[in-house]
Amino acid sequence: MKMKTQILKINPQKPEADKIAYAAQVLREGGTVAFPTETVYGLGADALNETAVRKIFEAKGRPADNPLIVHVSSISAVDKLVDEIPEAAKKLMDAYWPGPLTIVMQKKSRVPDVITAGLNTVAVRMPSHPIAYRLIEAAGIPVAAPSANISGKPSPTVGQHVIDDLLGRVDMIIDGGSAQVGLESTVIDVTGEKPLLLRPGGITHTQLKRLLGAVDIDAGVTEKLKENIVPRSPGMKYSHYSPKAEVIVVEGKRKNVIARINRLAQENQKRGLKVGVLAMSDTIALYNADRVLTAGDENRPETVAANLFYCLRAFDAAGVDIIYAQSVADREIGMAIRNRLHKAAGYQIISADG
Ligand code: TXA
Ligand code: MG
Repeated sequence: MKMKTQILKINPQKPEADKIAYAAQVLREGGTVAFPTETVYGLGADALNETAVRKIFEAKGRPADNPLIVHVSSISAVDKLVDEIPEAAKKLMDAYWPGPLTIVMQKKSRVPDVITAGLNTVAVRMPSHPIAYRLIEAAGIPVAAPSANISGKPSPTVGQHVIDDLLGRVDMIIDGGSAQVGLESTVIDVTGEKPLLLRPGGITHTQLKRLLGAVDIDAGVTEKLKENIVPRSPGMKYSHYSPKAEVIVVEGKRKNVIARINRLAQENQKRGLKVGVLAMSDTIALYNADRVLTAGDENRPETVAANLFYCLRAFDAAGVDIIYAQSVADREIGMAIRNRLHKAAGYQIISADG
């Protein structure tokens, strides 16, 4: 595949109306446009145009059985995708839209199978990022958009990462600065008796429970799916967020984690490997490795979320062979950080205690 990709810089705070209109036109004409959202960059196409949607799968190398999220800029657009908006979904939309929350509902038959991978449900989200929101509004169509990375790689959080992955594979890339949350949206399924959290993200399980009462957590969120289980969210079964380097998560008491990572780093350096360490702002000075990066402040986990994918790509750029990553506590957005980190590590998790 070798296409001409236009790169368009747009001001994320005050998107230039003429540029938005131009990009919207590309979408309306069945083209593919990558754009920033508040979570990560997305690769968009007209959700009701099957040919356009297929271009997304081709550009990303995405397996056809992994469904896409449809992005909207109004509730009336949702009415055209689903037969009925359940009460729980209404509450969620009121509280968190526009924002980093995707809601899975029963689909109308007009939503093409290529979007939903044949499921009878569709995932819908209204993004808050000014570029994403205005682009969808100007296009006047629902926009299907997975993360704008080559399938399996960490999601892009800056325009350059999209360019690295998709130049020559899509019609347009909008460069609009950094995504704020840094991790993909929370995905919640409201089609069952009890709401089910399929993917943790910027809107936390605690927030969802406060709004809806009980919210179950899908097994795929916290553990590796067993071979014979069909996941509720097909995307959960794929290896994800993986840099080229091997990733190993080290958990435990702070001083044990530091000692263990330093020992493992030294052993691997002796074997001739280039070692990276993903540290926190208060531990960065305590590690010895070829590349030590800080993901953020452990006590402000939203900073870690914002930097995680950026760091994984930076390790790749530095040619690191193996990455040891410090973990974060399993609370609030920490659940989402751990979910992505554990998947990036292929569930290689070492306990440094004992
Ligand atoms: O933050 C985000 O959600 C970003 C931005 C661009 O909006 N998009 C994103 O899309 O992360 P993607 O395709 O990388 O992840 C979509 C996830 C996958 O795990 C997919 O399996 C799941 O949502 N999904 C989509 N439709 C679904 C459905 N009908 N039922 C269950 N899961 C679904
Ligand atoms: Mg993705």
